[in-house]
Amino acid sequence: MGASIQINGITHRFSGKGPNVLENLVFDMAAGRSTALIGESGCGKSTLLHMLAGLMLPTEGCVRINGQQVTKPHPEWNMMFQRPGLYPWLNVRQNVALGLQFTGKTEALAQRVDEMLALVGLSDKGAARPQDLSGGQQQRVALARSLAVEPDVILLDEPFSALDAFTRRNLQLEVRHIAREKNITLVLVTHDIDEALTMGDSVVVMGRNPGTFQSVMNIDLAYPRNPIDPKFAKLREDLMARFKHSVEGQPQARQTSFDAIANNTNKIKTPAHERPLDQNNGRSSSLPLNR
Ligand SMILES: Nc1ncnc2c1ncn2[C@@H]1O[C@H](COP(=O)(O)OP(=O)(O)O)[C@@H](O)[C@H]1O
Ligand SMILES: [Mg+2]
Repeated sequence: MGASIQINGITHRFSGKGPNVLENLVFDMAAGRSTALIGESGCGKSTLLHMLAGLMLPTEGCVRINGQQVTKPHPEWNMMFQRPGLYPWLNVRQNVALGLQFTGKTEALAQRVDEMLALVGLSDKGAARPQDLSGGQQQRVALARSLAVEPDVILLDEPFSALDAFTRRNLQLEVRHIAREKNITLVLVTHDIDEALTMGDSVVVMGRNPGTFQSVMNIDLAYPRNPIDPKFAKLREDLMARFKHSVEGQPQARQTSFDAIANNTNKIKTPAHERPLDQNNGRSSSLPLNR
């Protein structure tokens, strides 16, 4: 399980003569790693995530998962949204089973659903209707449904932002833990710096108008991460500074030991997908890959 993801020189416009919403994005994610994308509202995070999910094609460039160009959704690349998207007329078990049914993985279905409900701590809620559960429990059901198909990739679009702080933190820790156990590649879109630091092996800071990758920070902290750890606090400060620069459109002022900054992303003239693959040791990323 786990799959590598390459973002290969993506530029996107929603209409022919419209502005670039995303511009020359280049980044590699190794299988089983977690990348948090952080940026202001409107910088194109959701648009990019939809491209990773195969729900939308970029105007230029492409996404590759395990080397294969993404042109449509795949059942093992799962997307989780801010709202859990459960069917109110189905009970929790039936909702969890849906992904398995769609993908035809119906062998030992009842047992698989039991395992998933146990994994997310909802063994006693199988017969309940989703609308009778709390917001956090509903997101757990959505998570169980995603995990049931043994995905290689989970794409999370601000999935915890509607939850209270306590539930949010528990789910952040649990999702990261489960993904590590199962070697699932995670891409997390967020505008919450602590969430990015709690869940990401790397944090990519995006700028807007057009959406670009401004800098990348490797988060070299053990899991589970604790926001009151002084190293966490130091990283938060560093990330805040980068975030501020990205918002103000200033060049990166300061480089730190975590640096894997590539402000040169926008200077690349030839889109990465047009360059031979053996350039850069077979990879096309100008942003260093964090392994
Ligand atoms: N379907 C669409 N048509 C035209 N513009 C869009 C569409 N979807 C998003 N946009 C624009 O693209 C930009 C990026 O949007 P989005 O990816 O939703 O940003 P984020 O998720 O970072 O808040 C915004 O300016 C938004 O208005
Ligand atoms: Mg969004």
